[in-house]
Amino acid sequence: MKMLVGFIGWRGMVGSVLLDRLRKNNDFLNFRSVFFTTSQMYGTPPNVSNRVSSRLEDAYNLEYLSTLDIIVSCQGEKYTIQIYSKLKDIGWKGYWIDASSYLRMNKKSIIVLDPINFNDIKLGIEKGIKTFVGGNCTVSLMLMALGGLFSNNLIDWISVSTYQSVSGSGSQSMLELLEQIGYVYKNISTYLSSNASILEIEKIFTSSLNNINYSSTKLKGPLLGNLIPWIDVSMQNGQTKEEWKGMAETNKILNTKQNIFIDGVCVRVPSLRCHSQSFTIKLCHDISIKEIKSLISSHNSWVKVVDNTFNDTMHELNPLQVTGTLNIPIGRIKKLNIGKKYLSAFSVGDQLLWGAAEPLRRILNILINQ
Ligand SMILES: NC(=O)c1ccc[n+]([C@@H]2O[C@H](COP(=O)([O-])OP(=O)(O)OC[C@H]3O[C@@H](n4cnc5c(N)ncnc54)[C@H](OP(=O)(O)O)[C@@H]3O)[C@@H](O)[C@H]2O)c1
Repeated sequence: MKMLVGFIGWRGMVGSVLLDRLRKNNDFLNFRSVFFTTSQMYGTPPNVSNRVSSRLEDAYNLEYLSTLDIIVSCQGEKYTIQIYSKLKDIGWKGYWIDASSYLRMNKKSIIVLDPINFNDIKLGIEKGIKTFVGGNCTVSLMLMALGGLFSNNLIDWISVSTYQSVSGSGSQSMLELLEQIGYVYKNISTYLSSNASILEIEKIFTSSLNNINYSSTKLKGPLLGNLIPWIDVSMQNGQTKEEWKGMAETNKILNTKQNIFIDGVCVRVPSLRCHSQSFTIKLCHDISIKEIKSLISSHNSWVKVVDNTFNDTMHELNPLQVTGTLNIPIGRIKKLNIGKKYLSAFSVGDQLLWGAAEPLRRILNILINQ
């Protein structure tokens, strides 16, 4: 009998991209599926092959959940906190696949990114690990981009600035940014076709955004025409949790004996999809740019080195070019004035694909096909 897989959080940002990928790859043919909801009980589930229930099931129904071979949750950490241990407590022995961060650092879980840690995943399955968690989006995208340097032990440390799109904060935030765009456009559209000076238009733009009441919004402030250099909650050492994850998760995924130091500032920007990252890398020793490019581009099938020219950068190294693709372009590769071991690079990746849904789809297939 085919395995029974339950999907929770399938209509959110990550979940809907996952569903799309599973459909496009005909993965639903390989298992039976059932769809759950936390808010739309007994509504209509998506139309996929081998679906066993014609309605949305209650995501809090432990009895039903405990009949599943695999649970895929893209619902967020609150749900995982509420349900995961209860299921374990009643003796559920199935596989739990999760997009949220809650279980990532758990000793009995593996952070999945199989182009990087396939052997650890395989070994973990053999040893009876049952919990597989997608990594932080920027961590996964960084590892896909710089895999060739990590796997050759060339990285001493990395300082990174991120430029993270609004969809990284979930569907609600994405809707809020689109609403900000609509609201501001309504306010400035007549001025655009008038003789108003550019400074007048800028004033109306800025005051429109500042006049919105953000108290009940998820973003808590304007993102249009703006950026927010703060993502996730604060840690005691001045980092945000998003910044803390960079080093913690990278070292867990790479299973390093000695920590590779990674730190920086994570910034929310008003692009809709894709996270970009600007890296300053200290190499362990001086190697040529040619060698660096060759190591990076031969590491996996999705990374692509972009030539360090304006045209190539404009056409290949930005969110709009990458959105909806599995491509991981990396460009602006150059040695820095600081010294021969110091390298800059800039990379873009769709955080909903390699940064979230794709590693989950791939671990689901690995478990189904084992
Ligand atoms: N977004 C990313 O780029 C990303 C990347 C890596 C990891 N993650 C992690 O993955 C988890 C899920 O993130 P997410 O960004 O997918 O969250 P999300 O878009 O906010 O979706 C989560 C849930 O919110 C409910 N929901 C409420 N209003 C909705 C609306 N208008 N449209 C769709 N769903 C709505 C849905 O649950 P019901 O159907 O049950 O109501 C949905 O499953 C989080 O733990 C997040 O940290 C996200």
